[in-house]
Amino acid sequence: MRIGCPKEIKPQEFRVGLTPNAAREAVTHGHSVVMEQGAGTGAGFTDEDYIAAGAEIAGTAADLFATAEMIVKVKEPQAVERKMLREGQILFTYLHLAPDPEQTHDLMASGATCIAYETVTDDRGGLPLLAPMSEVAGRLAPQVGAWTLQKANGGRGVLMGGVPGVGPARVVVIGGGVVGTHAAKIAAGMGADVTVLDRSLPRLRYLDDVFGGQFKTSYASAGNTIELAREADLIIGAVLIPGAAAPKLISRAQLSELKQGAALVDVAIDQGGCFETSKATTHQDPVYDVDGIMHYCVANMPGAVARTSTIALGNATMPFMLALADKGWRQACEDDPHLLNGLNVHAGKLTYYAVGKALGIDVLSPALALKE
Ligand SMILES: NC(=O)c1ccc[n+]([C@@H]2O[C@H](COP(=O)([O-])OP(=O)(O)OC[C@H]3O[C@@H](n4cnc5c(N)ncnc54)[C@H](O)[C@@H]3O)[C@@H](O)[C@H]2O)c1
Repeated sequence: MRIGCPKEIKPQEFRVGLTPNAAREAVTHGHSVVMEQGAGTGAGFTDEDYIAAGAEIAGTAADLFATAEMIVKVKEPQAVERKMLREGQILFTYLHLAPDPEQTHDLMASGATCIAYETVTDDRGGLPLLAPMSEVAGRLAPQVGAWTLQKANGGRGVLMGGVPGVGPARVVVIGGGVVGTHAAKIAAGMGADVTVLDRSLPRLRYLDDVFGGQFKTSYASAGNTIELAREADLIIGAVLIPGAAAPKLISRAQLSELKQGAALVDVAIDQGGCFETSKATTHQDPVYDVDGIMHYCVANMPGAVARTSTIALGNATMPFMLALADKGWRQACEDDPHLLNGLNVHAGKLTYYAVGKALGIDVLSPALALKE
């Protein structure tokens, strides 16, 4: 199969769909890989790295879209890219169609077969192509929180690990899923005093069993949440209710109960945020102040560490990318129901129920799409 990987054109996106290692694996499997010139630059990969891996370099995205049988990307295709997709072509990338009717209609009109990273599943009920970005955002959260706590950045002037004779920062992580667990591990590793709140008792049991010595757990009742928040230097928001907007767990009125200069890092901002006063910010201007409480609410945190994120995403997508290339999408999806769960659009039809429900579009069952 001829696999094409264009340069990302969404503003502030520095990741790339294929690493040189992924390109090399595809070539080893007998496929040809074509990269757009400079596609890997933002993640620290040169065209020469890809050439050494056996890939070709295309001068323009148009050249690449015209000949590739499968397009592998990171972000949803932008309008100009959607115009270049065609019938029979496979698109493998993040799509997030539910809030995006324009993109959905364009992808249906293209006739392409579109497989979304975010809806591919695994045996444990997880989302294996979303998890790496949650791991990155979770591990980044204490790092940006520590920076925000510094005096020059508006924070309380508290050091995460303290020093001998001076206690550490108190960190509260709300939501103990993928983001929250990684955030708590790193914050504890920095020497902070960490408590993780969650509403799921099985999750709290797991965290206590595995990390009991490193951080504490607490049930996320409203009372426990505000009690811990009052004492906190840094609060990390990491909740998720799948398919719903994040619940607001600290209200504007409650900000007056927090310590002046405390930092709120709202990782759940991509689902609307879990603090009432959260609004999305960018890496250029990440932090703002409400009533003396510093808010960090960057919606695409993994973009700050584009190289790590690209490699982490590539490790997760590679087996699926190779299956699609080796077997063709139909056989690959027939053999792997988890990959079939990624099928969102095929030959003009929507094939993902939750998107159909959100946008009021009729859905063709993915199982029937396999037979079309
Ligand atoms: N800002 C970014 O760049 C970025 C990057 C990756 C993920 N995220 C977001 O981070 C959030 C967390 O993602 P995840 O992968 O860790 O999800 P996850 O499903 O692994 O974990 C979410 C946890 O929240 C808990 N929860 C739900 N409601 C709660 C409540 N009211 N109080 C306390 N806990 C509650 C759940 O029990 C679960 O353990 C999501 O909104 C995700 O979209 C943001």
